[in-house]
Amino acid sequence: MFARADLKAPILENISLGGKYYRIRVLAPEIASSARAGQFCMIRPEYSGESLLRRPFSIAAIRDHDILEFAYTAIGVGTRLLAQAKAGDRLLCVGPLGNSFPIAEGSAAIVVAGGIGVAPFPFLNRVLNQHRIFPVTYYGARSADDLIYIEELNQLSEKLIVATDDGSAGFHGFVTQILERDLEQHHRDAVIHACGPHPMLAAVKRIAERCGLPAYLSMEETMGCGLGICIGCPIPGITPDGENTYFLCCKEGPIFPSSVVVL
Ligand SMILES: Cc1cc2nc3c(=O)[nH]c(=O)nc-3n(C[C@H](O)[C@H](O)[C@H](O)COP(=O)(O)OP(=O)(O)OC[C@H]3O[C@@H](n4cnc5c(N)ncnc54)[C@H](O)[C@@H]3O)c2cc1C
Ligand code: FES
Repeated sequence: MFARADLKAPILENISLGGKYYRIRVLAPEIASSARAGQFCMIRPEYSGESLLRRPFSIAAIRDHDILEFAYTAIGVGTRLLAQAKAGDRLLCVGPLGNSFPIAEGSAAIVVAGGIGVAPFPFLNRVLNQHRIFPVTYYGARSADDLIYIEELNQLSEKLIVATDDGSAGFHGFVTQILERDLEQHHRDAVIHACGPHPMLAAVKRIAERCGLPAYLSMEETMGCGLGICIGCPIPGITPDGENTYFLCCKEGPIFPSSVVVL
């Protein structure tokens, strides 16, 4: 059921979503059939030189049961090469990897996305809906041009609340400011799921602790193998006894309870 596959997956489409944002879809039934929301794949285009390591990307959605979708920003060597891949090329793809967001049956959910950290949430929100959970989704970005998946998230959420740093869409400010304000005004018993930049995750951790809510954070770390072999993705954390420790992001994560990570 949870087998990992290493595929040369045919690329069905790789399109620009505007600005530095892209969406790629590949045919990968072996991965799509067992993937859970929050998991990731290590990917690279087939023809990208022998030296390029695969990069980690959250599974953004499963389409028609056997198509994997990823959303990405072209920011460096690997992602710029990825942006050049064409339909008909193949993607080297290992997955699904890592753990997944827990689904707490019968509990309300809050989703907090920052920037390209929105990537795992079309998948998670759909799975939550299948469990009759309709999350309140908070989504923050730099400006209106940086918002992707808006229509889909709107459909899959009880409510979608947008915030932008420059005020060009939704609330003017950080998404965690409006999350905090909302929770202060109307306390909700809900499980928080968050993915985004470290400062956003640190704020979510603080807010969750203050409100006594469980929070699960999808952590990002540069990865070499994605398989727990190279020891290249340590995340500082705390053991149940309060001792400092390190977790391997790829193997023990990427999803961690906010109480065990140091941010
Ligand atoms: C579990 C996981 C899931 C991810 N999911 C997605 C996703 O769905 N979409 C997406 O766009 N990105 C995602 N990322 C980040 C993505 O893996 C990196 O953006 C990618 O590896 C950059 O590769 P590159 O060769 O283009 O950049 P590089 O040339 O390697 O680096 C370019 C610049 O980006 C910085 N950088 C590289 N990797 C990271 C990182 N992980 N975090 C912060 N800064 C980084 C470098 O320090 C450098 O400044 C995820 C990362 C992890 C660990
Ligand atoms: S990336 Fe190699 S151990 Fe995590």
